[in-house]
This record gives sequence, C-alpha cells and structure tokens, in this order.
Amino acid sequence: MAQGQAGFDVPDSWGLTGKVAIVTGGGAAGDGIGNGRASAILLARAGTRVVVVDRDLALAKRTVELIEAGDGGGEALAFQADVTRGSDCAAMVEAALDRFGRLDFLDNNVGIGSRGSVVDESEESWRRLMTVNVDTMFLAAKHAIPAMRRVGGGAIVNVSSISALRPRGLTAYSVSKGAVIALTRAMAVDHGPEGIRVNCVAPGPVYTPMVYQRGMSPASRDQRRKASALGIEGTGWDIGHAVRFLLSDFARYITGHTLVVDGGTTLTAPARDAGGSGG
Ligand SMILES: NC(=O)c1ccc[n+]([C@@H]2O[C@H](COP(=O)([O-])OP(=O)(O)OC[C@H]3O[C@@H](n4cnc5c(N)ncnc54)[C@H](O)[C@@H]3O)[C@@H](O)[C@H]2O)c1
Repeated sequence: MAQGQAGFDVPDSWGLTGKVAIVTGGGAAGDGIGNGRASAILLARAGTRVVVVDRDLALAKRTVELIEAGDGGGEALAFQADVTRGSDCAAMVEAALDRFGRLDFLDNNVGIGSRGSVVDESEESWRRLMTVNVDTMFLAAKHAIPAMRRVGGGAIVNVSSISALRPRGLTAYSVSKGAVIALTRAMAVDHGPEGIRVNCVAPGPVYTPMVYQRGMSPASRDQRRKASALGIEGTGWDIGHAVRFLLSDFARYITGHTLVVDGGTTLTAPARDAGGSGG
C-alpha cells in the first residue's frame, strides 16, 4: 500500500500478484465463459496463481489451457474435486499448498439451479440444492481458512444470486442463495480479526453454459436482456471482474458486503417472468 498524503493513499498494486487462489467450479462446458472460468482467467491475468477446481477435470483443464494461452500467460493448476465432500475440499487446499506453497483467496463459485415452489420441489431435490449451493461454501471455507491464517490473512468471495433478494419462482434456489449471504456476513464477523475479508457477489441473469445448456430460446434470452435497467446481457466476465475486485486490495475496507452485479435487473424486472430470467 503506498503511503500517500492527506488520506489519499491508494493501493500501488491490486495485491493480487504472487498470491494464490482457489476457484471452485472453475470449469465451464466447451469454450463457454462461466462465472468461475472468467474469475480464474482474470485473476491469473493479474498475476495470481490459480487452482481451478471442478468435479469435471476436463473442464478445469480447459480453463487452465485458456489461462496459459492468453496474452501474458499465467500460472494455474487443474484439480478434480467434488466440493460437496469435505475430504475433497481438504485435498484441494493441500494441492494449492503443494504446488504453490500458500493460499490467499477462495472464490466459492459452485452452484446449481432449481425451478418451482415448495409444493413443486421434491425433498430429494431440495436437499441436493442445499448441499451443492450451501454446504460447498461451508466446506471449502472450512478447509481454506486455516491455510489463509498461516499467511496472515486472505479474502473469500461467495457467489450468491439476485434470486436471494428478489424471489421469482425459483424458491429452493432463492433460499440456498439467501443462506450464502447470511454465511458471508457471519464469516466476515468471525474472520475479520484474522485479516480475512469475506464478501458476496450476487449475479443477475448471466449468459453462461449453466443457462444455455438447459436450452434457452432467443426470445427468452432477449427477455432477460430487456429485464435489466441497462438493457444489456450479463456475461461471466462481469462476474469475474467483481470477484477480482473484491479479492484485491482495492476492496481492503470492504467485508460482509453483497455486491449485486445485474445491470439493474433487481430495480426494474417484474416479480414474475414466465420466460425465466434464470440464475
Ligand atoms: N449464470 C447465471 O445466470 C447465474 C446467475 C446468478 C448466480 N449464478 C451463480 O454463479 C455460479 C456459477 O454459475 P455458472 O453459470 O458459471 O455455472 P456453470 O454451470 O457454467 O459452471 C459451474 C461449474 O461448477 C462445476 N460444479 C458443479 N458442481 C460441482 C461440485 N459439486 N464440485 C465441483 N465443481 C462443481 C460444474 O462442473 C461447472 O463446470 C453459481 O453459484 C450460480 O448459482 C449464476
């Protein structure tokens, strides 16, 4: 941090170079840009070494290839883990320490969608959603934080959704993503004194493989775009930039915060949209 004058101190770097990050769900189908893949690429571009974790190793490897092939390159490791399992989360942290010697950041990005009310939802699918969307964030953080303590601090971003703030027919998903916001705030209080900041990104509709692999018509895609105040479509890069900012030293005074990245969709979109604004 540069020591400037009269309270105008500015960070002299992002505080990202030479650091090590784990990005869970860092793969994406094909060459698609998911939120995790975009975050991993943008962190690597800033000089952070990245462990790209996915339950599908081929998808994580593709992210690493994209990092290594890009302008200026970058250093990354693909690691296969199902982060619903504590043992896999422990192994992913060990892999970061073995390969890069430290751990500073965690982008807790894994999540799956749902559709329907509590009446529509089966018990099995409700439990699955809580496991994938909430337990993964608890388990990854549980194993990552001790490693961050050893380097004197760190930063975590948990990926929620605007569905937590503005429910619209994806009830189990909304509940799971609301838990992510509560988890973020509780963790920020618990770990702030250790120099670990914990924030949340709440994306609006973002055109990622998770969305288009479920089959989205051009009309629905257009409806999602028009639902935002800006009238533009969100991409994984928009989420990646927000994640990178919150992990960087530019966010050194921000913790427990939920950053909505939605082009103003929460401000303008109707409460119910049958076409599904998704995510
Ligand atoms: N796409 C949107 O519109 C949108 C909107 C709001 C929030 N989000 C959130 O952003 C996050 C990422 O979404 P995305 O659209 O980039 O998803 P995506 O499906 O494109 O990518 C997620 C990756 O996570 C991996 N994954 C899934 N379960 C896993 C597990 N148990 N262990 C390890 N890896 C696992 C998948 O293999 C996939 O490669 C999710 O938490 C999602 O809820 C997305």
